[in-house]
Amino acid sequence: MSDLFLPPFLDRRASELHMESTPLAAIAKKFGTPCYAYSSSAITEAYEEFRRAFSTRPALICYAVKANGNLSILRLLSRLGAGFDIVSAGELHRVLRAGGLASRIVFSGVGKSCDDMAYALKAGVRCFNVESEPELRRLSDIAQSLGVTAPVSLRVNPDVDPKTHPYIATGLKESKFGIAHDGALDLYLEAARLPGLKVTGIDCHIGSQITELSPFLSALDRILLLVERLKNQGIQLGHLDLGGGLGIRYRHEQPISLAEYAREICSRLDHFDGELILEPGRRLVGNSGVLLTRVEYIKRTPGRSFAIVDAAMNDLVRPALYDAWHEILPVCSPATTGPSELFDVVGPVCETGDILGRDRTLALAQGDLLCILSAGAYAASMGSNYNARPRPPEVLVEGNETRLIRRRETLDELSDLEWPID
Ligand code: LLP
Repeated sequence: MSDLFLPPFLDRRASELHMESTPLAAIAKKFGTPCYAYSSSAITEAYEEFRRAFSTRPALICYAVKANGNLSILRLLSRLGAGFDIVSAGELHRVLRAGGLASRIVFSGVGKSCDDMAYALKAGVRCFNVESEPELRRLSDIAQSLGVTAPVSLRVNPDVDPKTHPYIATGLKESKFGIAHDGALDLYLEAARLPGLKVTGIDCHIGSQITELSPFLSALDRILLLVERLKNQGIQLGHLDLGGGLGIRYRHEQPISLAEYAREICSRLDHFDGELILEPGRRLVGNSGVLLTRVEYIKRTPGRSFAIVDAAMNDLVRPALYDAWHEILPVCSPATTGPSELFDVVGPVCETGDILGRDRTLALAQGDLLCILSAGAYAASMGSNYNARPRPPEVLVEGNETRLIRRRETLDELSDLEWPID
């Protein structure tokens, strides 16, 4: 596999990186840095790939909003026909503001509050993915008090190893997520008895950035065992939700072919009449986005050379949090005439862990523009204001047009919700 990976809709023309037909340098010039840019075509194409792969059976692609909840991205996906996987009232609010349909929303998450539930019940979401007995009882009480029926699916923990980073593995029995496979049948029977609930489906999500097919298939096999047992108990399910988790290429990873994933899943669902639901996040948006950043200083110490850039861990926390690799490329190449050397690309935040890329071989000078790849998922959405840094703008690229879809925060906005004591 070639060492340098350029995601679709990103290419180098006349030695300058372009997203679709737009030079990234033009985006930096117009909107400043740091700045996220997303390719609208890349998102559309990723969604259509799912549609094509699952065209042979009823399937609803519920985009996991946590990957990137920008309203314009939600609207784009909603227009394409996507549903949404949400984990909070905040995400529900975003989807509704973006024009997404409540009837296509599944509500996941291990700690739904009473307010979350009431809001989602009033909105009329498609299903609650319930993760524990107390949650089931709470949902029953709240639905009853509102005089409505809550559609329910149990998130089953199939106890399979997704072979991914331990922080993003969720389907092992040690994990806080889901209901143990062994206890699921009893809880389903309880759900069927409780007032205010209607059992509609079954659900699992085993982790994220998974690049092997077998854990998904093992999980599905375990879920199908339960579906069969439930049927024998007279509980017929209307949908099966296999969660998200499909990995993407950041560096050397070889992502699962969607066609193969779909083929293997669909062949196992021959005897299941209900709808298939999927909750992809990263696979839809991860490689659609980049983070543009400028070199503020080149700093050479006796130990290492640093490129200190204007983006930081508050804009892209994945390298600091998971030791994740994001490719870093000069937007104009060659950026300088100097020789390449080994740099740590770091941000201005006062943490030693504020690293965006370690040991990168680059030819760099102060003022150079850099592009950090694969920043469409879990980048802006995990952003913070740490060190009182305003969050960067987000730009959607469509051919040679750019649309600002979130403006840069102002310094005033950073303290607008506060006041000094008298
Ligand atoms: N469904 C549920 C219930 C989830 O918890 C998640 C992600 C997804 C779907 C979407 O997973 P995806 O298709 O994006 O893998 N911050 C981490 C990833 C955390 C994923 C959390 N749950 C990262 O930057 O790698």
